[in-house]
Amino acid sequence: MGFTVAIDGPAAAGKGTIAQRLAAHYGFAYLDTGLLYRAIGRLAAERGLDLDDGEAMGAVARALDPAVLDDGSLRGREAGELASRVAVHAPVRAALTEFQRGFARRPGGAVLDGRDIGTVICPEAEVKIFVSASPEVRARRRTDELLAKGRAVDYGTILQEVRARDERDSGRAAAPLKAAPDAALLDTSELDIEEAFRAACRIVDASPHPR
Ligand code: DC
Repeated sequence: MGFTVAIDGPAAAGKGTIAQRLAAHYGFAYLDTGLLYRAIGRLAAERGLDLDDGEAMGAVARALDPAVLDDGSLRGREAGELASRVAVHAPVRAALTEFQRGFARRPGGAVLDGRDIGTVICPEAEVKIFVSASPEVRARRRTDELLAKGRAVDYGTILQEVRARDERDSGRAAAPLKAAPDAALLDTSELDIEEAFRAACRIVDASPHPR
């Protein structure tokens, strides 16, 4: 029987790292659902398509080959921006639903992270965690990450990007970013990654469902 852990939250709150570590710890498969939207945004931009055309973006999403998700460059800032734009379209989200649900039902257990996993994709998930942190903390982490990679970035610009992305992800009509009513809230503002991971493990271990 499958066991699904749904992790949602805004960009740079730590959900990706927490989700990956939970998957490794419990031996579950892991899907970073943001990569799906990133791949669609990237493909659409490469083809010169109009990112505001929901039907055209839906067609790109329906034809998506999950093999493209292995492209490491999808994790960059630019693809994130494109992803946030194509993710507003209902046809795009509809095209990705079955793939994500199929992944979530893997017999050995699965962790999915994204924005709407606990609310729309897997409302029946055994565990739901909403990972958050203040915009300032998230912008600081993102800035430090980029500086460590040798990129010239400025905290103020990144903070603006974080706020703009939050607004687009939370304000859209189709599956907006929000915590499911039954999600456990995990605020990582004051936690390092080890503490955040341990807090997430406690949430999984406290779930009433058998694993
Ligand atoms: O988690 P991320 O930074 O890779 O996500 C990139 C964008 O994709 C994000 O701004 C919103 C969108 N997204 C979404 O709408 N639903 C998801 N389940 C995952 C990502």
